[in-house]
Amino acid sequence: MTIIEPTYTYIDNKFHENRAVAFSKTIEAIDSIENLKTKYPDADIIKGEENSILYPGFINTHVHLEFSANKTTLQYGNFMSWLDSVIANRDRLIQECDNEVMLKACSDMLESGVTTFGAISSFGKDLETCAKTPQKVIYFNEIIGSNMAYVDALYSDFLNRLDESKKMIDSGVTPAIAIHSPYSVHPVVLKRAINIAKDEKLPLSAHLLESPAEREWLESGEGEFLSFFQKYFNTSTPVTTISEFIESFDDIDTHFTHMVQATNKELEYIAQKGHSIAHCPRSNRLLGCGRLDIDKLIELDIPFSVATDGLSSNSSLNIFDELRATLMLHYSTPLRELSNLLIKNITSTPAKILGVDSGEIKESKSADLVLINLPDRPNSLDDIALQTILHTQKVDRVFIDGKEI
Ligand code: BEZ
Ligand code: FE2
Repeated sequence: MTIIEPTYTYIDNKFHENRAVAFSKTIEAIDSIENLKTKYPDADIIKGEENSILYPGFINTHVHLEFSANKTTLQYGNFMSWLDSVIANRDRLIQECDNEVMLKACSDMLESGVTTFGAISSFGKDLETCAKTPQKVIYFNEIIGSNMAYVDALYSDFLNRLDESKKMIDSGVTPAIAIHSPYSVHPVVLKRAINIAKDEKLPLSAHLLESPAEREWLESGEGEFLSFFQKYFNTSTPVTTISEFIESFDDIDTHFTHMVQATNKELEYIAQKGHSIAHCPRSNRLLGCGRLDIDKLIELDIPFSVATDGLSSNSSLNIFDELRATLMLHYSTPLRELSNLLIKNITSTPAKILGVDSGEIKESKSADLVLINLPDRPNSLDDIALQTILHTQKVDRVFIDGKEI
């Protein structure tokens, strides 16, 4: 048993003083340090520094490890120019992205306190890394392919990757399914993949309404995607409509990534069906996609996470860099309320979205914990979320299933 005694503890989305936590693999008790020492006289004691804060381990619901080799190669500013640059540089970027590069990406997340992440896997090249990394991984095997001529081959490759990921459960990998997007997945395979997720109760995610070009293509078959599809796939009509795509997920809670270009009506539908959203603000900014209307999400009570996306559309996987960007991008949302919500959106909210048994400091939850030090005393308990976001680059200590990493 270990007892950790921080200055502040994040419990039930609030900050508390005088709360120590006793844990082994799971959280055993939360009480004053005196009571815990009496209850567990043989426990190891970790005393946090002055102004330390104990949080549950953070959760990054959406990252693409397989594109971690990109630093300055891809073209930013416009989604289609970016996609063209991905296609032009794909082979080199994938080849350069070996286990060492991907483990470094995991370690950067870990240093910022991320103890669980959702890996969107396009090729299965990241499976070994996800099994090796100390973090828990929700491994989203991605299905892609809009052209009927290739869908069967791509679908069978997807099934093989899904099967391989199922062999890694003992190494902390949870198999899951990702749909690439409405424009790139044929409805026939879309339905098959969704049915697997339903039958096997696997977490399900999909990119949706990321760019203005995507919206225009799905609505009218026009815009920048028209020449893209003509050039690469010799097709000139979209395979689905926005409503047909969204309705395919009616009976299964889905984690939709981006949704920047969604209308209020579409967001209301998402809310009504109980779906959630992954918000990747830096990726959206860099790819010229716009800004998600988080005030609308808050009004509709849509659960959303804050996630980094991959290094193909970001400059770091540090979750605090993402939170700082989120605070600055959403400049009119009240600062203190937003800061508190952002901490919730990398802890208990994504835990519920991904169905993992962590993200909260609560008895019987996994002992995934991070300790952070503020540089000075916060003004009030209400300021701690904001000051944590502003001042944290790296966390001080990390525990996963009670083991210090
Ligand atoms: C497709 O298969 O339709 C597709 C693949 C990658 C990007 C865009 C579309
Ligand atoms: Fe993504």
